[in-house]
Amino acid sequence: MSKFIINGPSTLKGDFVPSGAKNAALKMIAASLLTKDKVILENCPDITDVHSLISLMESLGAKTNFQNNILEIDPSGVNKFRPDDDVAKKIRASIVLVGPLLARFNKAQIAHPGGCLIGNRPLDAHMDVFRQYGIKINYKDKYYSFSTPILTGAKTFPCLSVTATENAIMTAVLAKGESTIYAAAAEPEIKDLILILRSMGARIRGAGTHNISIEGVKKLSGTRFRIMPDRIEIGTIICASLATGSEITIHDFREKDMGNFIYKLESLGAKFKIENSKLTVLKSKLNSGRIDTRTYPGFSTDLQSPTAVLLTQAGGVSRIFETLFENRFNFIAELNRMGAKIKQINDYVIEIDGPTKLKGANIESSDLRAGAALVIAGLIAEGKTVINNIDIFERGYEKWENKLSKLGVNIIKEK
Ligand code: EPZ
Repeated sequence: MSKFIINGPSTLKGDFVPSGAKNAALKMIAASLLTKDKVILENCPDITDVHSLISLMESLGAKTNFQNNILEIDPSGVNKFRPDDDVAKKIRASIVLVGPLLARFNKAQIAHPGGCLIGNRPLDAHMDVFRQYGIKINYKDKYYSFSTPILTGAKTFPCLSVTATENAIMTAVLAKGESTIYAAAAEPEIKDLILILRSMGARIRGAGTHNISIEGVKKLSGTRFRIMPDRIEIGTIICASLATGSEITIHDFREKDMGNFIYKLESLGAKFKIENSKLTVLKSKLNSGRIDTRTYPGFSTDLQSPTAVLLTQAGGVSRIFETLFENRFNFIAELNRMGAKIKQINDYVIEIDGPTKLKGANIESSDLRAGAALVIAGLIAEGKTVINNIDIFERGYEKWENKLSKLGVNIIKEK
């Protein structure tokens, strides 16, 4: 297991270029199953979850070539409808292979998807969507089978679930007739998925809204598409910059992607300068406050833990309400060992008393975004911090040891 060794405290200085968005790239890789032509994804992040999805695609018969953040997928040889069980169990995103496999074969089979241990991660919204399309579902020996004699359009209700919305969209684009998706999630990654599907010839209206209508077409063609920047990576480095009293400039910044994240931090005293596609984080004095995570355009749950560690440096008592997941505070014990004063009120609420000095420690991350919080804590802390099991963090963050070193951080990665 790899580890990061950070000697802090760090002051960050210079320019940060985000990678492509993990939660857009994973679905676009799945979407390549909707055509027999080549799909080329630019700005594809070189992270473990992308490699996991690539191996799932290859287990179905696709050919891939991934270098310099350009991923080429040749799906012409795809002849299976059940991706590799062991890999499917590792990542939540494997569930978004089902929609495209149904669109391609009218059937699909998948082992129960895995993903971060941030709650029980139910799949009922996905199953409801597939049933609303008239698909028969069986569950046996820990895997699902889906089948339908013919795929026809329908009204579906993914109840604001991100991946269930993406499954609803990808099941509809080649179905017979019209489909309407009500209470669709509207995260920016979903809009990006709709843009690539349109570039393949899909007929979709309502991108970026909670109501999407789709007219099924006979066939989709290949495409070349640039993936949007990763708004969660951007939010994470913003928290790191504010927490260490630094000033950095972030490129490829898209204000709309951030929902209310920027404005919420400004209300707590954070100062930013936004010019076109650049955001400069200014040295700021942060006050305590209340954060509620919400579906987009609310405060992203994926930025909850990086913000929690930022609030350990704010004056006063802050409260965070995590309203989407029931177990997304897996960083508290480690942060408190470093000197933070965080109290868990219940499964959904924590209280953070700041500011507190953090001291380096030997710590371990248990999920992706908890890992991000620990990296930020290592930047703030006085002395040496060893973050073990950094492989979890690298599921979603590309080469941060290089990106942070470029910003002046004393960090090394040890295999
Ligand atoms: C996506 O997960 C993201 N993952 C998550 O990012 C993100 O936290 C989440 O959306 C919310 O924005 C990917 O895109 C691969 P949901 P997803 O279905 O689709 C409940 C990260 O760190 N729910 O929108 O699995 C669920 O329990 C990851 O990058 C059901 O009840 O999230 C949760 O409370 C973590 N039934 C809420 O909805 C379902 O069938 C949001 O889940 C599905 C979800």
